[in-house]
Parts: sequence; C-alpha cells; structure tokens
Amino acid sequence: MFSTTFLDLPPLKGATGSVTLPGSKSISNRVLLLSALCQGTTVVHDLLDSDDTRVMLNALRQLGCGLDINGTTVTITGLGGQLAHPSPIEFFMGNAGTAMRPLTAALAVLGGDFTLKGVPRMHERPIGDLVDALRLLGCNIDYLGQEGYPPLHIGQPQLQLDAPIQVRGDVSSQFLTALLMALPLAAQERSITIEVVGELISKPYIEITLNLLERYGIAVERQGWQRFVIPAGSRYQSPGTIHVEADASSASYFIALGAIAEGQGIRVNGVGAASIQGDIRFVEAAEKMGAKVTSGPNWLEIRRGAWPLKAIELDCNHIPDAAMTLVVMALYADGPTLLRNIASWRVKETDRIVAMAAECRKLGATVEEGPDWLRVHPLPLGQLNLPAAQGQWQATGIHTYDDHRVAMCFSLAAFNSAEVPTRIEDPKCVAKTFPDYFEVLFSVAHADPAKIPVICVDGPTASGKGTLASRVAAQLGYHYLDSGALYRVTAYAALQAGLSLEARDEPAIAQLARNLPVRFEGEQVLLNHIDVTDAIRSEQGGMNASKVSVLPAVREALVDLQLGFRRLPGLLADGRDMGTVIFPAAPLKVFLTASAAKRAERRHKQLISKGFSANIDSLRADLEARDARDMSRSVAPLQPAQDALQLDNSSLTIEASVEQVLDWWQSRQVFG
Ligand code: DC
Repeated sequence: MFSTTFLDLPPLKGATGSVTLPGSKSISNRVLLLSALCQGTTVVHDLLDSDDTRVMLNALRQLGCGLDINGTTVTITGLGGQLAHPSPIEFFMGNAGTAMRPLTAALAVLGGDFTLKGVPRMHERPIGDLVDALRLLGCNIDYLGQEGYPPLHIGQPQLQLDAPIQVRGDVSSQFLTALLMALPLAAQERSITIEVVGELISKPYIEITLNLLERYGIAVERQGWQRFVIPAGSRYQSPGTIHVEADASSASYFIALGAIAEGQGIRVNGVGAASIQGDIRFVEAAEKMGAKVTSGPNWLEIRRGAWPLKAIELDCNHIPDAAMTLVVMALYADGPTLLRNIASWRVKETDRIVAMAAECRKLGATVEEGPDWLRVHPLPLGQLNLPAAQGQWQATGIHTYDDHRVAMCFSLAAFNSAEVPTRIEDPKCVAKTFPDYFEVLFSVAHADPAKIPVICVDGPTASGKGTLASRVAAQLGYHYLDSGALYRVTAYAALQAGLSLEARDEPAIAQLARNLPVRFEGEQVLLNHIDVTDAIRSEQGGMNASKVSVLPAVREALVDLQLGFRRLPGLLADGRDMGTVIFPAAPLKVFLTASAAKRAERRHKQLISKGFSANIDSLRADLEARDARDMSRSVAPLQPAQDALQLDNSSLTIEASVEQVLDWWQSRQVFG
C-alpha cells in the first residue's frame, strides 16, 4: 500500500495483463454480520481485507463472536441471536457506512448498552431515517451529538412488531438493508412487514442483501420494491462455507482501463457475468461508451473498442458507485456525457458530485452539475481532432477527500494525451476497499520508460547516500536501486563460484552478473533465495565489490539489470554512475558529500554500535585514501554528474537532507 502523502503517476500509455481483485465490500460486511448473527460456524473465503471490514471485525469481536482470521479466510462462530458479551460496549465505526448502518439496526433489535461513534465525516452522514424506523418498532436509540447523525446510544428495546415498519428508501438503501438483516432476529413468532416510503434507490444493493439472506436461511417475500415480508419462524442458519465475489465496483477501474488504454486487453478474475452485485452492470455502460467486453461466470476481458470513447447519457441509479468511473471515461469521449439520478453521491464518503466536478475542472475539463446530475465535457485526445473537446489537460494534484473511489477514478487521468503526470493526494485512502489498488494498476499499466522519473544519488563512501536515497524513495513511494549492492552481490557470487576477482576472470564474472539471481526484499538482499545481506554488507564485501566494479565487462553486464529497476511509479537510484551512465537523463541528480572527519565519526559510531572496535583517526585516513583512489580510478571514477546538485550534509540531520532533496524534487514538478 502507498502510505505516502501523495503519489505521482507518470503519463501512462497502455495496459495489458490480468488482475485478481479483492472481495466485494458490500458482500464482505454483510456476510460478516450474518455469520455473526446466525447459529453455527461459517468459513468465509476471499473476504476483503480493508478499513471497512476491519471495523466490522472489531465490532464483532467486541460482541464476543469467535473469529479465526487466516489471510482472506475467516472462520466465524455466530452468536445465535444471543449477545455473549456483557454491556456496555463502545464501538468505533471509522467512516464505514456498510458497518455502521446494519450494526446499528441489529444492535437496536438485540438491545444492550451500546455507543457507536466514527470519524468526523461519519458524524455528518445521515442516519435519521433508519433511527426513525427503528424507533417506530420500539427500539431505544438516542443521538449523542446532532439529531439525525451519529454518534448514537442504543438501549433495551420494547419491540412492537404488529404494524408494518416504514422506512424511507430515497436516501440510502443501506437503511432497508439494515432492517432486512436485523428483523429476522425478532421474527420467531410473527411475520414482520417492512414498507418502503418513497422511491427505493440503489435497488441492486437490496438484491445482494436478499440473495445473501437466502444463503443464511431467510426467505424474504418481496412485493415489488415497496413491501418486504420476513416470514414467521425465520431463523438464521449458517451456510457452512461461503465465497465472497471480487468487488464489481473495484472492477470498474479495470474495465475502464481496458476501454481507455491501448494494448492486448485486461482480464479481471473473481467477478463476471454470474455476479450478484449490481455494479456488474457497469459493463453495459462501458460497452455503450465503446469498450469490447467478453465474460464468463467469474471473469471479464476488456479491450479498447471505439476511440475516442462514445459520449453517453445514462440514468445511473442502478450503478451508483461504479458510475463515478464513467466521469473519468467521459474525459476521453467524443462529446459531453450526462450522468443522471446520482443524488445518493451527495451523502457518500464525501459529496461526490462536488468532488468529481471540482477535480475534473482542475484537470482542465468543463463540467456542469445539478442537484442529481453531472455533465462532463471531454478533453483533447492528442492527434485526433475532437471538435467537442474543451480546454486542455492540466497537470494537477487530485484532492481525494478521504474517498477511495475518487482516488481510483482519477488514476485513469494518467492516460491523458498531453502526457502530463497526475498527482493523487493521500493515496492510502484506497485502503477502504482496495489497499493494493495502485500496485495492481502498475502491474498492468505501461509507461514510456523515459517518462518514469528517476532521482540519482551518489557521493563518497560513508556520506549517507544509501540512507538518504531509501528515505526519499519511501516518501515518494518509489522503487529503490542500491547499485552498490549489485556489485557486492556479483563479487560474492563470483567468489562462491570459485572465481578470482581479477581481470583474468572478467568474462566469467560478467557472465555471472548478466544472469544474477538477485532479489531485493525491503532491506534484505537475496541471492538464489538465500539471504546474503550481512555477508555483502561487511567491509570485506565492500572491498570485493570495489575490485569487480573496475572490470568494464562486469559494468556492462549489469546495465540491463539496473535499467530494469525503472518501473512505475518511479525510482531512486543510488550509486557511482547512476547519473552519468545508467540514467544520464534523470531529472534530478544529487551528489551527497560530508567532510572526511564527519564521515569517519559516523562510521565509527556505526561500527561501535555493532560491537566492533574502531579507531576514528585510522578510519579517517582510510576514507581519505579511498576517496583519492575512487576519484582517480579510470573506470567509473567518483565524480558528480555535471548537472548534479551538491548537498554537503556534514552539519545536517538525515531528516533535513531528505527535506532538501524533496524540495528540489517538488520545485521541478509541473503540478499547478
Ligand atoms: O555503495 P557501496 O559501498 O555498496 O559500493 C560498493 C563498491 O561498488 C564501491 O567500491 C563502489 C562500487 N560501485 C560502483 O562502482 N558503481 C556503482 N554504481 C555502485 C557502486
């Protein structure tokens, strides 16, 4: 997951490959609650691991459910309609609507002494209609803050279930879902009727609820979309085992990707034509816009069809979440796209109508908005002359409003024809439903390697360049190439193979280097799956590296391996010839220095802390001798690239050096 403050996406060109998506949020949280309410043990496979499901799992644990979590498989021992845990309990619901609403209803029907709170945004998301309905049936619920919004307190109910229970259907379908899941707990002796007041929105989510209730033994009788009857004698029963489908809303970004990007197409695994999720109908919307889609029961394949995409007008009530993806597709269309019936966007993680319009405008697009609609005009498509296009693509920082879908949608702006980068602020907000979204995107998206940013850091031995480079990489979410480690590993592998490190074995060492089975995992360096980190990091390891690094054939053999580190979204390259030979066009090169005295002092501290004895004066003499040798050697001498910026960190903390490099980097960015 990218937990950086922003993530810069270089301009993307195409996409090819297959992706496996995380489980559906809607199904995951329903299945968790139903498994908790029923009698018996349920094994849930392919559960989504995200902020929202973690909120639900924590709540269930607080209620006393047995939980055994093993990756994406969770075994849940249900409460059987009885609360094992003594009250009172305070629940923290974060910003998880899919946990807050159904849990409120279930707890209100079961009764206890419960407080439910969330993040500030959760306290702005309405829950009054659900509370009204629950109060009508005798539940005891109080607002602890503003009327109509969380936080809430729940006490013991006095249930009156004879008259039909009325709930508004036109604010959020989650209210009806919550009642449908809670009321079977009270339907042992009598049937219970729910009546929807007003037009029911987001019907597909109700379909998911009904479908899953059936899997847990509750056969709701539906009369149109207005009346729902839970038959007398209803009782939750565990299905034993259940599989969570991949999230159809998450699939929308990859369906859009297949429609927008040039390439051999995208295959999505885990969700397909047999899905019970309403958002699977996003496929039809994407097809209308020109995507070519083929599907099986649990897979989809998407290729670019019409280009530019075709502008559409669509009532989006049936795909409220996935429809956000159409907004960004509309930027690549042949005319203005009108999305109607999207009022529910206003009460989601953020006001999504405002958010989508504002961010599209920052990208340069013209957008009109109404109470429940958006009209998005396209932006230019490069060589294609597009009369409908208005404005120009702008490089901009996309604000994401703590809304996962805003972040994922706007990643698709990186395919813009102006080939400008796109900055996604707070990229970790995707954790709500899809923690690895950007990693999965990068696994299939291509960029022109020359457009993938590289920052080079070099400097004399013990200047602290490794620490600096890896910290800057972490701040930007970039890959990190420790090229010195490649020379160290090469020397190590050569000695293991019985070679000398002299010129006479140069061809053999070069051959070895060309096929080096090396892998970096965090701080660890693996050679042939064996951890060689400590072995190559010794002083001797450095001397050996220095010997093989003067062999031109070895340097040549390592070029491709090093170039291969230039991957999305960017690279920090640390080492001798990074800015001169390997990445000469890198947009930022830093030459890090420190006085010999300072470096000797640091190395001394480092050695002492590792339990080695050391003498500062001789360390300093060694460093000075090595500097002289390094600077005067004929092969890859230690010299700053001509366009390198010098940073003397003798009197700087590491944090200050990192700040300086990040400042230099920011000042070279094009974001408005
Ligand atoms: O950065 P380091 O101490 O791990 O480097 C080990 C040796 O390899 C050192 O002598 C410099 C050399 N080296 C090189 O010649 N070219 C590089 N790109 C990186 C390191």
